[in-house]
Amino acid sequence: MTPATAKRPIVLSGIQPSGQLLISHYVGAMRNWVAMQESHDSLFMLVDLHAITVRQNPVEFRARCYDFVALYLACGLDPKKNTIFVQSHVSAHAQLGWLLNCYAHMGELERMTQFKDKSSRPGAAITVGLFDYPVLMAADILLYQATHVPVGADQKQHLELTRDLAARFNHIYGAVFTIPEPFIPETGARIMSLQDPTKKMSKSDPSEGSFVGLLDEPKTILKKFKRAVTDSDTDIRFDGENKPGVSNLLTLLSIFSGESIPALESRLSGQGYGTLKVQTAEAVIAFLEPIQAQFRALRTDEAALDQILADGAAKARARAEPTLQRAFEVHGFLPRR
Ligand code: TYM
Repeated sequence: MTPATAKRPIVLSGIQPSGQLLISHYVGAMRNWVAMQESHDSLFMLVDLHAITVRQNPVEFRARCYDFVALYLACGLDPKKNTIFVQSHVSAHAQLGWLLNCYAHMGELERMTQFKDKSSRPGAAITVGLFDYPVLMAADILLYQATHVPVGADQKQHLELTRDLAARFNHIYGAVFTIPEPFIPETGARIMSLQDPTKKMSKSDPSEGSFVGLLDEPKTILKKFKRAVTDSDTDIRFDGENKPGVSNLLTLLSIFSGESIPALESRLSGQGYGTLKVQTAEAVIAFLEPIQAQFRALRTDEAALDQILADGAAKARARAEPTLQRAFEVHGFLPRR
């Protein structure tokens, strides 16, 4: 095969528009999407069906979905190089999700740490959708025969379930699905909350000071970092176990400035935590400035965003259809003539 005709590995990933898009999503996932679109056959989704496992205000939800698409583009995802689409625009996801439901076991879904965490929150509505969430995620991935799924560390267990479901299905019916590999970055796979560095940074955290949004204003970003919880020591050194707050700041500063963690440790040695916090904030602000400007330009034209999504959905539907048909066919469903 010549390079031009060689089949490229297939990458698929997505983010739920259930809250703001955060620097942790960028660091844990999108950073790799932008890099991988150059070398991989890439599909990136706005995972809107998953987002309604938590109740959404319809007006805010719709506006947020447009925000997400504009931010995907502003962060460097290029629809000429990849397929950007909205999960709900491709009905094959829900259809394959149903089939896979008939292979997933209650016990394995009950063991999902994200389900345990979300369902144990005070006042949480434990819907069937919340419980079934990882099966729909498996359908998202398996529909496209994805080989790699770039995600943060918190999605590893869901990926393992996806692999188990695919293997179970293939064991019965032959090689219908590709078994995907998670692609988890070495640094930044788990960015921690600025308010409680033992917890991951999360868009569903009720404390706004715990996370930084890609659209936060510079002064808000500076304030959030200045208030970041560290420790009572004074050493600027990476030690994730004993100094999670400082280590989290070093990770972010390293990723957003491009300076390695050892170089930062020696350059900042003897300086106070205040300096580390301000430099981290400044690096994040400088990184986000062009993204925010690009976002503002793109966000005003919803018709253009709709067009990108319509093109993406058409490409995604065509890609998903053969796998969906095959998954139905192997069961003995009557053909749709
Ligand atoms: P979601 O929307 O919670 O998160 C989107 C992506 O961001 C990563 N991430 C983090 N990375 C580093 N540090 C953090 N604190 C952090 N928080 C989140 C997540 O690992 C994820 O990669 N179930 C998925 C969405 C999904 C999906 C899919 C992903 C649905 N279908 C198919 C891949 C393939 C989710 O809720 O991600």
